[in-house]
Amino acid sequence: MPEGRFEDLRSEAETAIASAASTDELEGLRVRFLGRKAALTQALRSIGELPPEERGSVGKEANEVKRELESLLAERTERLEAEELDTRLAEDRIDVTLPGEPPPPVGHLHLVSQTRREMEDIFIGLGFDVVEGPEVEFDYYNFTSLNIPAGHPARTLMDTFYLADQVLLRTHTSPMQTRSMERQEPPIYIVIPGRVYRRDSDATHTPMFHQLEGLAVDEEITLADLQGVLLEFARAMFGAEREIRLRSGYFPFTEPSVEVDVSCFRCDGKGYLHDGSRCPLCKGSAWIEILGSGMVDPNVYGFVADSGYDPEKVQGFAFGMGIDRIALLKHGVPDLRMLFENDLRLLEQFGA
Ligand code: DAH
Repeated sequence: MPEGRFEDLRSEAETAIASAASTDELEGLRVRFLGRKAALTQALRSIGELPPEERGSVGKEANEVKRELESLLAERTERLEAEELDTRLAEDRIDVTLPGEPPPPVGHLHLVSQTRREMEDIFIGLGFDVVEGPEVEFDYYNFTSLNIPAGHPARTLMDTFYLADQVLLRTHTSPMQTRSMERQEPPIYIVIPGRVYRRDSDATHTPMFHQLEGLAVDEEITLADLQGVLLEFARAMFGAEREIRLRSGYFPFTEPSVEVDVSCFRCDGKGYLHDGSRCPLCKGSAWIEILGSGMVDPNVYGFVADSGYDPEKVQGFAFGMGIDRIALLKHGVPDLRMLFENDLRLLEQFGA
């Protein structure tokens, strides 16, 4: 065989590689010139069939061409890959400075949640901690440990949802009084917001509603402390000019028990409006009832004596109020049920 027998092949391949326009095309060329069926490969494979004196030079030349084509292919592939990447990057470019989809309007907390937080903040400011408890409760905590034994008439005052014999949906947040005292020795200063349940439904009652319970037990606590805390609360919630009034009341777990009214914030505690008409909010009475409270009954301490509540050493007060009711009063919502109908026409009026 003559020298340079691969020259045509070499120059054909060189031209093809140099003018290849894509990496795909280069891959095609690699198969064509260096693949299993390529002339060069075949030649290298059949070297053994050549006369012995030709084998050396043919093998050398074929390998040389092979190596050269391999490196040309590698070089060109690298170049084209880089170019292709550049094109792709340019084509795929995302302008991150463009505004995206218009963001959905940001919502706001439900009026009840806003009110709960406002109330929590006031009590945190007065040194109380906020704790929460279970909505599914034992009869024991909901009633017994609050000085309401089985058969006590106070049990019938609340239309209770029972889930099982001794398990119910709590009818008030008061069970957290004894639950918390079990866990924490005196002194204790806590408020407990949460959902409560009663079989009740009309303009001022819903089967689910929210309460905020308060409990303070320490040494030398008196009714005057209760009065001071609640006055602070009433003023923070309803205005600095508010007064409160304590009327005697009855709750099984407090002794004495008091019902607390706040001076009407619609008519400024007068009972009538500027035009002389009767105030629609307090119905002319100048006062609005906002909560029940009292000094913790010593019997209640009896259920948590193991945690250090000795009525000879500690005294305390407790109170409970409806969060929804406070929201309703403060914002003039006419019907409690409206708070839970999820009608945006109502809810949107209370954007924070
Ligand atoms: N738990 C009572 C209720 O739901 C409200 C209440 C009254 C709570 C007096 C108290 C309290 O902590 O001292 O009707």
